Amino acid sequence: MPVFPSGFVWGAATAAYQIEGAVHEGGRGENIWDRFCRQPGRIRDGSSGEVACDHYRRYAEDIALMGDLGVGAYRFSIAWPRLFPAGKGPLNRQGLDFYDRLVDGLCEAGITPFATLYYWDLPQELQARGGWTNRDTIPRFVDYACAAAERLGDRVQDFILMNEISVAAWRGHATGIHAPGIADARAFLAATHHMNLAQGEAIRAMRGESSRWRLGSALNLMPVDPADDSIGAADAADLVDAFWNGSVIDPLIHGRYPEIVAGRFQPFVQEDDMERIRQKVDFIGLNHYSRAYARQDPDQPLGVGMVAPPDDRPTTAMGWRIDGGGFRETLMRLKEDYGNPPVHVTENGAAFDDIVDADGRISDPARIAFLEEYLSALGQAIEAGCDVRSYFVWSLMDNFEWAEGYTKRFGLVHVDYATQKRTPKDSFGWYARLTREGRF
Ligand code: FCB
Repeated sequence: MPVFPSGFVWGAATAAYQIEGAVHEGGRGENIWDRFCRQPGRIRDGSSGEVACDHYRRYAEDIALMGDLGVGAYRFSIAWPRLFPAGKGPLNRQGLDFYDRLVDGLCEAGITPFATLYYWDLPQELQARGGWTNRDTIPRFVDYACAAAERLGDRVQDFILMNEISVAAWRGHATGIHAPGIADARAFLAATHHMNLAQGEAIRAMRGESSRWRLGSALNLMPVDPADDSIGAADAADLVDAFWNGSVIDPLIHGRYPEIVAGRFQPFVQEDDMERIRQKVDFIGLNHYSRAYARQDPDQPLGVGMVAPPDDRPTTAMGWRIDGGGFRETLMRLKEDYGNPPVHVTENGAAFDDIVDADGRISDPARIAFLEEYLSALGQAIEAGCDVRSYFVWSLMDNFEWAEGYTKRFGLVHVDYATQKRTPKDSFGWYARLTREGRF
């Protein structure tokens, strides 16, 4: 039974496109997900984030829920196209007003805001000019990041520059299952490098403006195992590990790409880039869900792919293996290979097929068991010396799960999308006890 250090912060996380809705409100511009969702066959249930959880209008109710949950911190994201509808140009005051109100509401409730600046919602106008495959997107991001931080940074201290560069690059530009839906190796390499560089440049610029801000990146890191005993699968696992984990964290911490892929990035790397990407961050945000399995896949642009777990061990509704050991392993790797940085676990959680019973109750023992397993692993990692400061559960409420639409529910709060009624699940009560007692 883990006991967490005093001062350890319990939080909950969401992202703008997954919860806000109101895509035409307040002068917001179109983003790549608005566009992607309109393409037939892209989203499992044909849905989009157009309405989502209507959080844009219901944010006060949602802050009240956070109060009931007892969280000390809330991680949300700022939608770039609300502030700069076309990705650049004059700041859209109305868009900023929403985050002003949100942050004020959080501060009044005594909840520390953690703001993510890029959570996959690139303004479509920038995509029209190549998006992350175009180096010109970098200064646009720097301008946006500085403007957002300048306006909200009197109340927000913790900024997460980017959410999961490797996922945005891999799923958006290699497998193409996420926006902008590109499946091309060069696009993947360029997008990865340019996002890495945009992050580095924005950190440098923000450091110049305030020493008050704590800056970090949310990385999706996971152990990558071969899908079977073949040599091909072992090689595939090394390559996927290098692309998925190494190509984001190695440049940031060590200023270089992993050796086995460095040559492939070379055409996109200009003089000084690597020094600009390498930054002293205040924390690493760790998003972790599962362990990955890799094999050769000639049909994929990178020649490798990720597949379902090879054995019959339990998985979540996403088909992701439940494996607290992989979480501990990932935390230990941060400690051993990357200098034991301060870590915020910026996402962890699970989707299950929740059922609302006749009394309107959502009993979700599988989610509670998942959290117990992963938090026990976290407790072990802390005991082994990992410098973990907080844990943000994914997610506060059910929301738009990207290519899966509304078919997957990750929330501690159930959302009835027809009525927007929020109902805390049993796991909400479980987590509320944890936030108050610091143990389970
Ligand atoms: C992560 C994303 C988050 C959510 C979870 C399930 O990769 O950051 O938005 O979709 O997966």
